[in-house]
Amino acid sequence: VDFDLAPYLKTWQNRINAALNALVTPPGKPSHRLQEAMRYSLLAGGKRVRPILCLAAAEAIGADTRPILPTACAIEMIHTYSLIHDDLPAMDNDDFRRGMPTLHRAFDEATAILAGDALLTLAFEILAVDDSANRLPADQRIVIIHSLAQAAGAAGMIEGQMQDIQQEGQRLALEDLEALHRLKTGALIEAAVSAGAVLGGGSERQQVDLRSYARHLGLAFQVTDDILNVTGDPAVMGKATGTDATRQKNTYPALMGLPAAQQRAQTLIEKALKALVGFDTKANPLRSIARYVIERRN
Ligand code: IPE
Ligand code: IPE
Ligand code: MG
Ligand code: MG
Repeated sequence: VDFDLAPYLKTWQNRINAALNALVTPPGKPSHRLQEAMRYSLLAGGKRVRPILCLAAAEAIGADTRPILPTACAIEMIHTYSLIHDDLPAMDNDDFRRGMPTLHRAFDEATAILAGDALLTLAFEILAVDDSANRLPADQRIVIIHSLAQAAGAAGMIEGQMQDIQQEGQRLALEDLEALHRLKTGALIEAAVSAGAVLGGGSERQQVDLRSYARHLGLAFQVTDDILNVTGDPAVMGKATGTDATRQKNTYPALMGLPAAQQRAQTLIEKALKALVGFDTKANPLRSIARYVIERRN
């Protein structure tokens, strides 16, 4: 694909960061510890892959992205909350995230739990209210609230996290690992793309194709996260590596070896690209992001 992804990502990251900054109230008093903690994690950086996928899906069908930016930001809040809780001592017990000490390290455990709760709740408040100039129709917002609630909750990400924790130290069958990855990481990525497709006014066909793209991409994203936990440079990643093996996590490299895991990610990305054959050059950002997902170094 003839498309320069780096400036595209940079532009969207800047717009998303500015919008997130405006959506989370700056602490008014020194006692506003909760706001400070929410901002610490949310504005720490992060690739913003999920909100960008949402916006790029809308672009692929030629839609105006302005009304979709608050939704994209809400998705990033749900994702950031999931990372804060994922890093807690009772979960993965990690000390670094996005190149900084994890929230429970920089603040304390109770604050990290509460800041996560508050970000998740704020996401749904933004989806419900949306007081921007380009606000979306209420019926569309209800569809998105429903779909993101499902993806983030007990039928999606949280069930995936439950399985991930419960199955530490047990050796899963490959199909069970795939199901786990589709839940813990795939579901939110699929919902992000789907939100862009729905809010962008995509046809039934376009929505189906974009969801198929996202399903393959979402799994490939977590397979690559597993691979990078083995091969990545912690300084580039902004988080520790080698931790999955220590915690006896079920991962693609652990179950099938590194070369087969890399091959699997490659095959998934080819399938994701195939789902986009019906789209014109406006889908080039999505095509380019697909390659980036498996070639990324952080
Ligand atoms: C990390 O997500 C956790 C997974 C679900 C694999 P990202 O790799 O998108 O992390 P950030 O948002 O860039 O920090
Ligand atoms: C994170 O999975 C998934 C969610 C936060 C839902 P991991 O635990 O594998 O991700 P990292 O490697 O800590 O970012
Ligand atoms: Mg985890
Ligand atoms: Mg983790």
